[in-house]
Amino acid sequence: MSDSPSIRYQTDRNLALELVRVTEAAALAASRWTGRGQKNEADGAAVEAMRLAFDTVAISGTVVIGEGEMDEAPMLYIGEKVGAGGPAMDIAVDPLEGTSLTAKNAPNALTVVALAEQGNFLHAPDVYMDKIAVGPGLPDGVVDIDAAIGANLRALAAAKGCDISDLTLCTLDRDRHAELIAHTREAGVRVMLISDGDVAGVIAACMPGTGVDIFAGSGGAPEGVLAAAALRCTGGQMQARLLFDDEAQVQRAREMDPGDPRRRLSLEDMAKGDVLFSATGVTGGALLRGIQRTPSNAVTHSIVMRSKSGTVRFIEGHHNFKTKTWSPS
Ligand code: FBP
Repeated sequence: MSDSPSIRYQTDRNLALELVRVTEAAALAASRWTGRGQKNEADGAAVEAMRLAFDTVAISGTVVIGEGEMDEAPMLYIGEKVGAGGPAMDIAVDPLEGTSLTAKNAPNALTVVALAEQGNFLHAPDVYMDKIAVGPGLPDGVVDIDAAIGANLRALAAAKGCDISDLTLCTLDRDRHAELIAHTREAGVRVMLISDGDVAGVIAACMPGTGVDIFAGSGGAPEGVLAAAALRCTGGQMQARLLFDDEAQVQRAREMDPGDPRRRLSLEDMAKGDVLFSATGVTGGALLRGIQRTPSNAVTHSIVMRSKSGTVRFIEGHHNFKTKTWSPS
């Protein structure tokens, strides 16, 4: 028997707050490794803590965006069942988004989880994805992933009623973006280059006060699905397209998702229905502060969002290690 709407509503509200514990646990574990130059150890600690934390969440979850295929990843692999039992949900995770950022103690490393009803996330393989995103309150289709970047920037400035030179575009600092960066600067637009962490980059384009007006460029496809989940909650527009190096990758995408693997993806193609999203800062950035530790205590900063209500909550957690049964240090 399916739950009544009011039970379902209450479940979603509680789940949103339970999710925070999951991203907090991963961030606390990863923060032991900030600035230590060991990105794999940081990632491993986040994965293990996140996996354990899921055991307490009242869902019957299936990981659809995770740490890789079952034979590549011991935990949080695609297809893994997690949760303490409850409604069937699909789970998208990035236990540590910005492993190198954490290793270098550089800004914007996050731990990220999103939940949706079964079948509502794009099952994306670990390939690159071309992405373009802008914030809420703009005409539908104001930017177009298939248009030249100059045309998109002019359309965005017109829709925002500002001079094109007032805009800032965020992208990953990669050689593959040389042309995008050159054309953006030629158009008179500022470029914010980030060394890693395009989930935070895409979200920044959709949140007030970050100084970013548009995100463009390619990054990981799993990160694209997580960013889409966040945008379903904040509002904003995103278009994307999977990019393939070879036929084997195309074939893998076909196995994971029935649609044309090269189709242009809308926000809803990547994350549809009711979506819950939680992220906790590991290192500080435009969106969230990083973990602050003392020997006996740590403070976490998280964002939790629900698409159904459009609620965006910033949650500050004070964690007293002395009263915990587990030790983050
Ligand atoms: P990791 O956390 O796995 O290191 O990924 C960081 C990241 O910068 C993502 O945010 C981004 O989508 C992807 O890597 C970009 O990949 P590449 O470094 O190959 O350009």
